[in-house]
Amino acid sequence: MIEGKKIRKVFKSGIFGGKTVVAVDNVDITVYDGETVALVGESGSGKSTLGRILLMLIKPDEGRVIFDGVDLTKLKGRELRRFRTKMQLIPQNPEEALDPRWRIYDSIAEPIRIHKLAGSRNEEEELILELIRAVGLKEEHLNRYPHELSGGELQRAVIARALTLNPKFIVCDEPTSMLDISTQASIVRLLVEFQKRLGISYLFITHDLELAEVIADRILVMRNGKIVDERSLH
Ligand SMILES: Nc1ncnc2c1ncn2[C@@H]1O[C@H](COP(=O)(O)OP(=O)(O)O)[C@@H](O)[C@H]1O
Ligand SMILES: [Mg+2]
Repeated sequence: MIEGKKIRKVFKSGIFGGKTVVAVDNVDITVYDGETVALVGESGSGKSTLGRILLMLIKPDEGRVIFDGVDLTKLKGRELRRFRTKMQLIPQNPEEALDPRWRIYDSIAEPIRIHKLAGSRNEEEELILELIRAVGLKEEHLNRYPHELSGGELQRAVIARALTLNPKFIVCDEPTSMLDISTQASIVRLLVEFQKRLGISYLFITHDLELAEVIADRILVMRNGKIVDERSLH
């Protein structure tokens, strides 16, 4: 279970940092194990900032992020990195997750190598092949560069990479909003299937209320940095 408590984040903008934006304003949020929480709201309401704070990719100005009872805002360095492996981001733009200069194989291999999950090159290849098939890609995609894949294929590669470390919590930040309708549906189906199989919990950020109603157990509505409405669906 992941909890955000009294999360606040203010950005300074303008040439001299004179303007301030309260992106997240005193937000309490909980995502239980195995649950899908949809976070909906207009552009600029603070959804991405809140999602990235829960992953500790952005440091909150105030508040705490608690993962399975551990306060992540108190951790540093190696200890924090250990928890980061349990949480992943699937961003709107796959280029945020995949280095354009790397073949798909190497992007997926990177977390496996950093965390020494494979004992040998063969074992690494087997792991990657298993992942790539699970997300509906083929072996031939592994040798390609990101610009040689379609949007849907890229998002599948991002999902494969996110799954390498067996995460417990994934923030999906509008993962299908750049895709055409039929590709959107197949990516959503894939994410739902993995959740059932692996018991992952999702914070699913979207501005598509219909999609939220289909996939979520609970919907939170964000406006001007605050959660203004909550609805249980199942
Ligand atoms: N790095 C940043 N620097 C300055 N302002 C930012 C930054 N990131 C987000 N913001 C501002 O914070 C507010 C919330 O942004 P964001 O979390 O991206 O909203 P959403 O994902 O709901 O569209 C917006 O006003 C945005 O312009
Ligand atoms: Mg956003």
